[in-house]
Amino acid sequence: MSNQYVGETVPKKLMRLQLYTVVKHLWKHTFHPGGWAVTLAGPEACEVGVLRHMLRFPVEKSMLVDRDPGGVAAAQTKWPGVNTYLGDIREGIEKVSSIGFAHFDFMGHFNDIISETVDLVRHKLRPGAVIAYTYLRGREMTGKTPHWDTMQAETKAALCDGPARERMEDERFRLDTTRSIGYARLLRQRLMNGWLPPSEKSVCGRHDLEQILLSTPKMAPPELVFLGRYNSGRSPMGVIAMQVMPDSMRGTRWQKAIRQLYNLPESRNDAPSGEEAVIAMKKKCVSLRKKGMPLSEVASVMNVEPSTITAWLAHDTRGTYEAMAV
Ligand SMILES: C[S@@+](CC[C@H](N)C(=O)[O-])C[C@H]1O[C@@H](n2cnc3c(N)ncnc32)[C@H](O)[C@@H]1O
Repeated sequence: MSNQYVGETVPKKLMRLQLYTVVKHLWKHTFHPGGWAVTLAGPEACEVGVLRHMLRFPVEKSMLVDRDPGGVAAAQTKWPGVNTYLGDIREGIEKVSSIGFAHFDFMGHFNDIISETVDLVRHKLRPGAVIAYTYLRGREMTGKTPHWDTMQAETKAALCDGPARERMEDERFRLDTTRSIGYARLLRQRLMNGWLPPSEKSVCGRHDLEQILLSTPKMAPPELVFLGRYNSGRSPMGVIAMQVMPDSMRGTRWQKAIRQLYNLPESRNDAPSGEEAVIAMKKKCVSLRKKGMPLSEVASVMNVEPSTITAWLAHDTRGTYEAMAV
């Protein structure tokens, strides 16, 4: 990581919920890709709740990796029996077979470790799999930040006409647009490299049906399914996610699910900060509970004590949050 991780924050919780809601939506309307879920644990293993209760990955197919023993220990406490790997993420990836979901919450720039991690993952992605990356929005330097120069040039070329060109004069728009377009292109490029033509498959010794399906050249380019921004403590962050889907599986249901994403409030969003974020979190907890999610699951998904949620539910019954706009 290029910055010190400040730990769990309310905007981060909200952004996590948004990302996982989008993935859940896509899979609900098409199919669950199965395989393994892999994430970086982080000191508090906060993704355990969403992996488990929103994406419904079984404990034996979930892997949390961290080079810090604290993160691995937290994962095992939060979810007894979960697979963990203490060490580098690139070694952790080697421990799993096929992958249905991966989130690389490095909170840094797209350095060699991230490139290599994506390279390792791409051979294992199952049809329908989603790969997400959380990056640092800031401190990029021409000539220093990996790929930044290419990202700037590509974004400029992509937005050379129309109203977008004028908006590129605005520094903040230009930077965030460069990050979104740049990271989407980088991720896509690295993911596409892995799809080998059939002749190369036998050279690599991959014979089983699943591997042939995974590495078929008919695998269409990955689809951008999520873009989000939030401020974690003092650091601005961005999240991007792509879904891989072979051409043969891009049916009506999938296309409809993708189109619906544009109407989902969660799919492309900034998470609020400060007091607004706290109100949004309370409302989210109340809404998940009202939709029928058990209290213990809401608590686990949001990393909040069940008793606190019970108190928020009581406030909701009294109409406290109705008056609060978010
Ligand atoms: C931002 S935290 C992850 C937080 C987690 N996603 C959450 O929501 O709670 C990033 C973690 O990645 C770990 N990390 C960074 N680079 C790593 C690498 N190359 N291999 C293994 N772990 C790494 C850090 O130790 C840190 O705990």
